[in-house]
Amino acid sequence: MKPITLKYKSQAVAKLYFIGALALFFGQIVFGLTLGLQYLFGDLMFPIIPFNIARMVHTNLLIVWLLMGFMGSAYFLVPEEAETELYSPLLAKILFWIFLAAGALTILGYLLVPYATLAEMTGNNLLATMGREFLEQPLPTKLGIVIVALAFLFNISMTVLKGRKTAITLVLLMGLWGLALMFLFSFVNPDNLVRDKMYWWFVVHLWVEGTWELILGALLAFVLIKTTGVDREVIDKWLYLIITMALVTGILGTGHHFFFIGLPGYWQWVGSIFSALEPIPFFMMTLFAFNMVQRRRREHPNQAALLWAVGCAVMGFLGAGLWGFIHTLSPVNYYTHGSQITAAHGHLAFYGAYVLVVIAMISYAMPLLRGREANSRRAQSVEMWSFWIMTIGMGVMVLALTGAGILQVWLQRMPSEGAMGFMATQDQLRFFYWLRMSGGVGFLIGLLTYLSSFFVGTGTAEEEMPAAALSQAV
Ligand code: HEM
Ligand code: HEM
Ligand SMILES: [Fe+2]
Repeated sequence: MKPITLKYKSQAVAKLYFIGALALFFGQIVFGLTLGLQYLFGDLMFPIIPFNIARMVHTNLLIVWLLMGFMGSAYFLVPEEAETELYSPLLAKILFWIFLAAGALTILGYLLVPYATLAEMTGNNLLATMGREFLEQPLPTKLGIVIVALAFLFNISMTVLKGRKTAITLVLLMGLWGLALMFLFSFVNPDNLVRDKMYWWFVVHLWVEGTWELILGALLAFVLIKTTGVDREVIDKWLYLIITMALVTGILGTGHHFFFIGLPGYWQWVGSIFSALEPIPFFMMTLFAFNMVQRRRREHPNQAALLWAVGCAVMGFLGAGLWGFIHTLSPVNYYTHGSQITAAHGHLAFYGAYVLVVIAMISYAMPLLRGREANSRRAQSVEMWSFWIMTIGMGVMVLALTGAGILQVWLQRMPSEGAMGFMATQDQLRFFYWLRMSGGVGFLIGLLTYLSSFFVGTGTAEEEMPAAALSQAV
């Protein structure tokens, strides 16, 4: 067995980011389970960790670890694609620790100080940016995010500029720059509630249904090129087609959030039509992944990475495309807006598209970062189990929330007379909330299984693979 060395030494910084991301992922899920229990036992942990705080920690950890995963992926991918060392590996390491420290301090702030006091302490009176879902971070954290993002982009862009330019790095850079640009709207918070909400969606929607989709496309294409050996020309064509469709549908698709918040009525049409087309790029990603697997020119020893990538393409389509579509037309959204249907969609879309693409990258890169081409077959089989356990756990959660949402709409929203009140309706949904809990526990078990895969079977795939399979692999 020959240990493998990285093609470019500086790719090694990705390891820090991946470990950090997985640790925060675990934290996110612990808070998710807390939230799920608080739905069933209203005063659980009150007043130490109230629901609103736990929710903020859950969603902020999600965003932070996904961003960390994107950055780690970029640090791994860009040197390899650009065929040159990272512009400054030291800067990348320093930024990691700054990002982690800022993230940890912010979470501690949420948990230890009442939110209003935190706002007072951190200069929210100078520029009010706090209190909006996903963007709850205090001003210094938001400024810190901008600085880290700019320094990161500088590092990555300089690397691309001095090296080979590929479609993958181009699309990745566009996505990352777009992500940072859109975040600037988190500083725009007018008193007018309509405009406030509009700018909020400029961040939230134009992230997940715009700029992040470019990142998703680029990372997926990278893992697929590596694990299937299909020609770059074929992959590039798919990638360009997918991101064009993503932008054509996603930008005006923002209108699906402008139906009932006080913006002009034409958004009912624009938002419904364009967002109804948004599933297309996600469906194309699914076709893309299966097409690449069919045309594969090699059996890469890391089959687990390929499973995560294909799983991402399928689950991303289901979560964003299908579960997005069901409530995106304005006459439907009139009834479902802000119901448990929304939560069902939010969970499956984030998991399918972004959680899975980051794990696909980690699964591909981590063995290489640890000096082997692929993990041992035992470790890979544990990983594959974890994919199925997590995905089924998430599936149960999402079906439970969808059931809860349908009943909620039926009882609380549909009747024109004698509609049930919000809390009375919630009481009727307890069965589904228990079901969601069981899915959540399954999800945690899947995650623990995944984390354990890093510690089983320390050998490499080569050691355990029969010689015939191996010669095919190389
Ligand atoms: C990778 C896995 C997960 C992802 C990507 C995720 C993502 C999210 C997102 C995006 C939200 C905000 C939803 C919205 O506003 O519509 C949220 C809220 C929430 N999550 Fe998760 N979550 C995950 C796992 C879990 C788990 C395991 C549980 C617990 C069983 C859980 C329970 C909750 C609850 C109770 C809320 C609050 C919903 C509300 O305000 O009504 N999540 N999560
Ligand atoms: C991976 C991509 C996507 C992610 C991560 C995602 C995530 C989310 C989240 C978390 C929310 C809840 C926001 C909140 O109010 O707190 C949401 C809302 C919504 N999403 Fe998506 N989404 C994605 C793609 C899509 C697509 C492609 C469609 C349409 C086909 C769609 C349709 C909607 C609609 C209509 C709402 C508003 C629900 C309401 O009125 O309450 N989403 N999405
Ligand atoms: Fe949206």
